[in-house]
Amino acid sequence: MEDPMSQAIDLYLDRLRQVAPEVSAAPVDDRFLFISEKAVLESARPISSLICSKLRQYSIVYRKGIRFRFDQQARVEHAYDSMSHAEFETINDPQVWTEERQIPRLMNGRVPRFGATIVDLGCGPGTSTRIISRFAHPSWTIYALDLSKTLIARAKEEAELGVFVTSMTPDPRTIMPRFVNQSIAETWSREERIADGSVDLVNSSGVVGHHLQADDVAAVLAEAKRVLKRGGYLGLDSGPRFSARRLAKLLTDAGFVEPTFIRSTALDPRPKVAVRKP
Ligand SMILES: C[S@@+](CC[C@H](N)C(=O)[O-])C[C@H]1O[C@@H](n2cnc3c(N)ncnc32)[C@H](O)[C@@H]1O
Repeated sequence: MEDPMSQAIDLYLDRLRQVAPEVSAAPVDDRFLFISEKAVLESARPISSLICSKLRQYSIVYRKGIRFRFDQQARVEHAYDSMSHAEFETINDPQVWTEERQIPRLMNGRVPRFGATIVDLGCGPGTSTRIISRFAHPSWTIYALDLSKTLIARAKEEAELGVFVTSMTPDPRTIMPRFVNQSIAETWSREERIADGSVDLVNSSGVVGHHLQADDVAAVLAEAKRVLKRGGYLGLDSGPRFSARRLAKLLTDAGFVEPTFIRSTALDPRPKVAVRKP
């Protein structure tokens, strides 16, 4: 018998399809990854856990007086480098809750099933990269870049421990992302130059709308344009510094097309903005 959570998801999806038929869309093209809405919801935590997660986040931010929403790189780097593992996990958890839904919805239908190349900008200790890996094929190449030495070191340790695992193969297979310690506002070539026109999808979660200044965003867009294949996609997070509408305008002004807002829930105030390189 199906478990109650799965039954509840089926019921919810039936209702949702009545108002949003595109949600149930089957794969349009077999060459591209298809992640059903049921798979998205089954792999994500329920809304009740977001409430607990937000309460824990506020308690630690106010109790410890942590101010980490800076946009000057040196202060951002210092803030993240000086957090303990537990502090980072607690503060970042509501962000992870959001991206458990946004990232698979971004990947769905936009990434080739085999041999794809993905870049995760501002990956932290690999939290967003872990969600990408869950839907990856072992033939993919995943680059993950972050400013914080401490967080990249932790991501590399976790990769060695085998925590990046795909659920897209019959048996769970370990994925080894390539973690690079660098600012995303510089050429993406600190350890290994990401080649021009080689990337299918660039993702950023919890970074652009939170920590970047306008000049940094312009540098990110220039690099994304350089590395993306024609027809490749860019999905950037909005946030307190860049609203989704402002981000969509910046992206279309930079020559990207088809802006789409990707929400974690219907009321998501900070959708991810996805665009295509023509
Ligand atoms: C809120 S965390 C998000 C981490 C991860 N993407 C996630 O969603 O869980 C923001 C991350 O952005 C990184 N970051 C901020 N500014 C950056 C920059 N200019 N270049 C690279 N990483 C940056 C920080 O070091 C931090 O790891």
